[in-house]
Amino acid sequence: MDQEQQATTSDALPGPAPVPSPPRRRRFLAVLAGLILLVGSGSACYWFFLRDAPLPPDPRVTYKGPYLNVDPRVAYVGDAVCARCHKDVADRFSHHPMGRSMQRVADVLPRENFTAEAKNPFESKGFRYDVERRGNSLWHSETKLDANKEVVYKKEMEVQYILGSRTHGGSYLVVQDGQVWQSPISWYTEKQRWDLAPGYTTQNVHFERPVTAECLQCHSNKVVSEKDTVNRYQEPLFRGLAIGCERCHGPGDLHVRRQGAHASETERDYTIVNPARLDPVLRDAVCQQCHLAGELRIPRLGRDFSDFRPGLPLHYFLAVFSLPSELVDPRKAVSQDDQMPLSMCYKKSKGELGCITCHELHKAPTAEKKTAYYRDRCLSCHEAGLSCSLSLPRRKKVDDNCVACHMPANSSSNIAHTSITDHRILIRPQTEAARGKPPAPDEIPLVFFHRDLDDPASDTQNRDLGIALARLARQANLPHLARLARPLLETSLKRYPADPDSDDALGLVLWMGGEQEEAYRLQKRLLQQSPRHEHRLELASYYARELGRLADMLEFEKRLVEINPNHSDYQVTLAELLSNQKQWAPALAAAQAALKLNPARLDARRLIILCHLRLGEKRQAETAKKAYLTFNPADAETVERWFD
Ligand code: HEC
Ligand code: HEC
Ligand code: HEC
Ligand code: HEC
Ligand code: HEC
Ligand code: HEC
Ligand code: HEC
Repeated sequence: MDQEQQATTSDALPGPAPVPSPPRRRRFLAVLAGLILLVGSGSACYWFFLRDAPLPPDPRVTYKGPYLNVDPRVAYVGDAVCARCHKDVADRFSHHPMGRSMQRVADVLPRENFTAEAKNPFESKGFRYDVERRGNSLWHSETKLDANKEVVYKKEMEVQYILGSRTHGGSYLVVQDGQVWQSPISWYTEKQRWDLAPGYTTQNVHFERPVTAECLQCHSNKVVSEKDTVNRYQEPLFRGLAIGCERCHGPGDLHVRRQGAHASETERDYTIVNPARLDPVLRDAVCQQCHLAGELRIPRLGRDFSDFRPGLPLHYFLAVFSLPSELVDPRKAVSQDDQMPLSMCYKKSKGELGCITCHELHKAPTAEKKTAYYRDRCLSCHEAGLSCSLSLPRRKKVDDNCVACHMPANSSSNIAHTSITDHRILIRPQTEAARGKPPAPDEIPLVFFHRDLDDPASDTQNRDLGIALARLARQANLPHLARLARPLLETSLKRYPADPDSDDALGLVLWMGGEQEEAYRLQKRLLQQSPRHEHRLELASYYARELGRLADMLEFEKRLVEINPNHSDYQVTLAELLSNQKQWAPALAAAQAALKLNPARLDARRLIILCHLRLGEKRQAETAKKAYLTFNPADAETVERWFD
């Protein structure tokens, strides 16, 4: 929902301001999304303090494999060190999209297109967006124009980083006080133009979309979150910018020392991982870190996503849940890693087929060489064995491009995180229709992706499933899933009573199951353990509002504003609550702070008029009204009445 639409147009006289609910929905969903994204970065810390049941041991220490650099004590050294001896690999990789997954704006400025043909500026729903180069920096701005094209406000932010190699596009990041936000403006390579960032057309949050650690762990080499926050990071923000060598090869310190000491060339080097030498499960895990989207990714008990090391199984760190294949149209909304195991090539080759059978990691084939390149890959298996049963003349019509017929691009999919190329490798992909049938109410609509593999932590699979179900229940608003989740979570919490992720999930389940007082008590208990946990506070505040505990809610919102003064949601809610208590001066200050952060907020503008009126500041109220009505002329009648 656009924030312009958030102001209520009720005719009620301005008594104590009604506590408006519209922004809530968005925030509640955001809270949940955040919880999902945050748990990974948070859980390790809690364990340190709260451990009172034996945890599954750290696989980096206990795993019985030959690689020495899976050990958590082996240090990362950074790409520059690898490049000293592997210069040609490093050069090639720097041209691969993964080698440019995160870029400094200053490095690509000369290649940016700021022309009118590239739609700079462009307009959307009454706002104008500009991209402007100033010396070595890049600025994005949002301008609100009134009916006469006069500027109502202009908000401009410097953008420092580009998320995305711009193979398909690029999103831009704003960094302020250690917090990272996404700009509303993105670059679209295919269309060669600027436009609203993905997702902003349905929900324009202006410059206020937090970029979470989860995004950055897949899109950059390494970040370290500030504990309990949504989008605040320790300095330096990026440790290695784009995805680096050690994400696929593991930490390099031992290897560098070994090679520096001129090790014997005959002995196998177990100080560094070469994915090509791994067995299929471990080989696939390297890519699945980031390419296996699944439906939900739950950090395993006591583990953190960033603990994963190449050479170890991914499911020791992350439980990935997918929808069962009969419930989804496999062409839609799933990643390459979800699709590949469905192919006959994968099933019948007993895992010989892996991502790296077809993809050379340190360089991508050029456009002219693509057809031949991938044909060679297919023929590495299909020349000797089963070959194409379509006649050669017919295949020649498309240059015998195996991929064009068996792995076509799904042109309707331009959604980030879904495969464009059909990785199911079917005989006739076009005729393979959706098989969707709605799940029965007592049916669990998720499957553990790695269910066929040996899992030493299998006794926690139900715990992971419980957490996944709870989150899915809330995201998709399916209370019956919450009922399925509850016994799983309760059983697990008996065994591991201090598992914060299960507790968070149980709170959701209780809330959705109608036991709201119980959920609220639990939430407050969780907050005692982590009083400055941003998402827990948001959720507590939401529960307090729904239960009518406005005094509690005020405390929560005050704390939220204190720990994150840069999110207008918190400031606006605080202003609403204060005005509810007729504390007009502090309410005005909070509403003004919100407006400064996000001048598009109509709820803040409305509160400002009201507060000025209540404080007897008629002239300021008039000015604020004039500005407000340029955004929302439909509200004129109501607002005029406040002045009577
Ligand atoms: C002091 C020089 C040196 C440095 C620094 C160095 N390597 Fe190597 N590396 C070598 C040599 C020599 C070999 C063996 C010959 C070869 O395969 O090129 C090797 C082999 C490898 C292999 C193949 C191993 C196998 O089993 O097939 C990988 C992968 C690798 N290095 C990655 C890295 C990464 C990643 C870094 C940075 C963390 C790095 N190297 C830093 C010298 C170095
Ligand atoms: C599990 C890993 C993972 C997470 C988490 C993730 N991404 Fe991605 N993202 C990817 C991969 C892999 C691709 C490339 C996929 C492809 O091309 O099929 C991608 C593609 C994208 C693209 C398109 C880039 C382009 O050049 O077209 C954008 C934009 C994007 N992600 C933004 C985000 C944001 C914002 C978040 C956080 C809300 C996020 N991603 C979270 C793995 C991830
Ligand atoms: C996205 C994963 C990924 C990243 C990032 C990556 N590699 Fe590799 N690397 C691989 C894979 C997979 C192989 C095995 C390729 C094969 O033989 O099919 C490999 C092989 C190698 C080898 C041995 C074989 C060869 O081609 O010489 C070296 C050395 C190496 N990588 C160095 C590096 C360095 C240095 C970097 C960083 C500049 C890097 N890699 C980044 C995945 C990656
Ligand atoms: C650290 C996360 C990460 C890991 C590990 C990783 N990828 Fe990626 N990969 C990405 C992201 C993010 C992109 C999108 C890059 C972009 O265009 O900005 C991507 C893009 C790609 C692309 C698309 C390149 C193109 O031409 O558009 C291929 C192919 C790919 N990865 C294959 C692999 C394979 C194979 C592995 C395992 C050896 C692997 N990746 C490991 C995150 C990762
Ligand atoms: C690692 C080896 C390997 C590679 C590489 C490979 N395949 Fe296969 N593929 C197989 C095997 C094994 C089968 C099953 C053959 C059988 O049923 O006897 C198969 C089956 C198929 C089928 C029949 C699918 C079905 O549903 O019955 C098609 C079509 C196919 N492959 C196309 C391709 C194309 C196109 C490529 C390249 C893009 C490719 N394969 C690459 C091993 C491979
Ligand atoms: C049988 C060959 C084959 C295998 C195996 C394979 N890919 Fe691909 N992949 C392709 C082809 C062909 C393309 C399209 C390339 C293009 O058009 O430039 C592609 C494209 C991609 C892209 C770019 C986005 C898209 O969907 O077009 C990504 C990312 C990717 N593959 C990741 C992976 C990962 C991760 C795996 C392992 C789970 C994998 N691929 C396995 C052949 C393969
Ligand atoms: C013009 C589209 C087209 C091209 C190009 C093409 N195929 Fe096919 N392929 C088909 C069709 C259609 C069938 C099913 C034909 C039939 O009914 O027997 C098929 C069947 C197959 C089968 C299954 C054979 C069987 O007996 O089950 C394999 C394997 C296969 N193709 C591999 C390939 C490979 C490898 C290439 C590239 C060298 C390729 N195809 C190129 C359209 C194509």
